[in-house]
Amino acid sequence: MKIAFHIGSSDFNPRWIKYCIANNIPFKEVNCYDGDIIEQLSDCDILMWQHHQSHPKDILFAKQLLFALEQTGKIVFPDFNTAWHFDDKVGQKYLLEAVNGYLAPSWVFYEKDKALSWAKETSYPKVFKLRGGAGSQNVRLVRNKSEAYRLIKKAFGKGFNNFDRWRAFKERFRKYSEGYSPFLDVLKATVRLVIPPAYSKVMGKEFGYIYFQEFIPGNDSDTRIIVIGDKAFALKRMVRKNDFRASGSGSIRYAKSEIDERCVKMAFEINEKLNAQCLAYDFVFDGENKPVLVEISYGFSANAYDKCEGYWNKQMEWCEGAFDPYGWMIEMMIKKD
Ligand SMILES: Nc1ncnc2c1ncn2[C@@H]1O[C@H](COP(=O)(O)OP(=O)(O)O)[C@@H](O)[C@H]1O
Ligand SMILES: [Mg+2]
Repeated sequence: MKIAFHIGSSDFNPRWIKYCIANNIPFKEVNCYDGDIIEQLSDCDILMWQHHQSHPKDILFAKQLLFALEQTGKIVFPDFNTAWHFDDKVGQKYLLEAVNGYLAPSWVFYEKDKALSWAKETSYPKVFKLRGGAGSQNVRLVRNKSEAYRLIKKAFGKGFNNFDRWRAFKERFRKYSEGYSPFLDVLKATVRLVIPPAYSKVMGKEFGYIYFQEFIPGNDSDTRIIVIGDKAFALKRMVRKNDFRASGSGSIRYAKSEIDERCVKMAFEINEKLNAQCLAYDFVFDGENKPVLVEISYGFSANAYDKCEGYWNKQMEWCEGAFDPYGWMIEMMIKKD
């Protein structure tokens, strides 16, 4: 049994390797960008690659490579059930509706006239989202009909960029001024005003569809539960000032008392239906104080979770103290072998 890790920058990779070294688990590093990757993997049973939504090469073929290997008998992380809907909120809508996954009511349109007649009749505010994007970058409040009309015209006209340079700049400046990131990040964002990131070129325009979600008002945070196998951990992200969006705000709470355990239970329940290896579930609370899901994602920023004070097992018992989710991932792969 040997594990292959894709070399290159990823949050999980150094932690996976550390775990393998500490536990004498055989591994090698491969370069998935090489033309002979299938050959490189010939002496391995497992490939683990934390591909990323903003790495241009990953977007081009990470899923295709992983799923091709999975189909032909290798064990991969992330596998199909875990990742086909990664960075694809439209895919997630269908999946979560199909399994009764408590997704906030969502609408997607592929025809402009249908979108316009829905926008004419519906109530406001609503939330507009592109299918991809993280850290709230492509999520906006739609306050009224005319804002919805404008977005619909754009979706079926010139389309949206995945990377909105002005919004990104303002967000970097906010993070700097609130003490969440260094001034260097502002400088980098200034460069991005002129040179957009490569991933936005690869992804091209978001065009020909529009996606809205019911706005769930009154939330000062969202609750993120990460399920890996039969364990779960959580944190709460506070919304930005004068905003409704939490993800990417930088303001995080870790205490167990901050987490509504109904979310943990629901995340376990949905994860079982989805048969996923590892998924983050983002919840807000509706007018009746019930958890409502707004998004799922297999990927997450490892550093942000190091401060979690413990985890739940599937029996909903709290296990206090430090833990290693990246080791859990490795153990899960080995068990399957
Ligand atoms: N339907 C909604 N109602 C209220 N708030 C929402 C809704 N959808 C998203 N949000 C807020 O916006 C944030 C970003 O939305 P999300 O869909 O998770 O996008 P991203 O992929 O950028 O994290 C969430 O963290 C949540 O605070
Ligand atoms: Mg989110």
